[in-house]
Amino acid sequence: MTDFFLFIFLILILSINIFIFMGFIGFFTGAVSGAPFVPTGSKTVEKMIRFANIKASEKVYDLGCGDGRIVFEASRLGANAVGIEISFPVYWFALLRKKIFKEKGEIRRGSLWDVDISDADVIFVYLLPKMMKRFSELKISTLQKGTRIISHGFELPGYTPVEIIAREGSQGRILKYIV
Ligand SMILES: C[S@@+](CC[C@H](N)C(=O)[O-])C[C@H]1O[C@@H](n2cnc3c(N)ncnc32)[C@H](O)[C@@H]1O
Repeated sequence: MTDFFLFIFLILILSINIFIFMGFIGFFTGAVSGAPFVPTGSKTVEKMIRFANIKASEKVYDLGCGDGRIVFEASRLGANAVGIEISFPVYWFALLRKKIFKEKGEIRRGSLWDVDISDADVIFVYLLPKMMKRFSELKISTLQKGTRIISHGFELPGYTPVEIIAREGSQGRILKYIV
């Protein structure tokens, strides 16, 4: 009996270690690519979703979707939501969340630079300034007129936000652009 409990205990410790290790890998893959995995807090997700004014069957992207929380929330409103995530462990974590909580929405593994987002009605981003600059240079011209971009924290260079929610706390502002 003691051996059995020891075995379970070791499995538990091993699982925790694997989970932490995968978390580190996920964090650093994102960081190397330009934005580490730092999930948006649930209250901020709610605000971002409200700010986006999503209507049913609109096409929504979260570019660098992390664990998929924004994709799942947008899907609950009937949106056709897609999340793109570059980091394998973070992507798997999003798939796991989707499975366990029976969420709707599509999670794709890949780089946001390789995805055609020209059909977007709403785009969510939480990316560092360097990536926002590249996003502005490479992607905005491919979007249809009137696309709403909701950015957590960082400005979209070359564009003026139509609205800003300034928040207290460490996670910064939420900015809305219509391009
Ligand atoms: C700050 S997190 C935001 C996660 C999620 N959008 C949220 O608000 O909770 C940025 C995410 O972008 C991912 N990422 C970084 N570079 C990427 C790229 N080129 N293509 C797709 N995802 C990328 C990272 O792995 C990370 O999960």
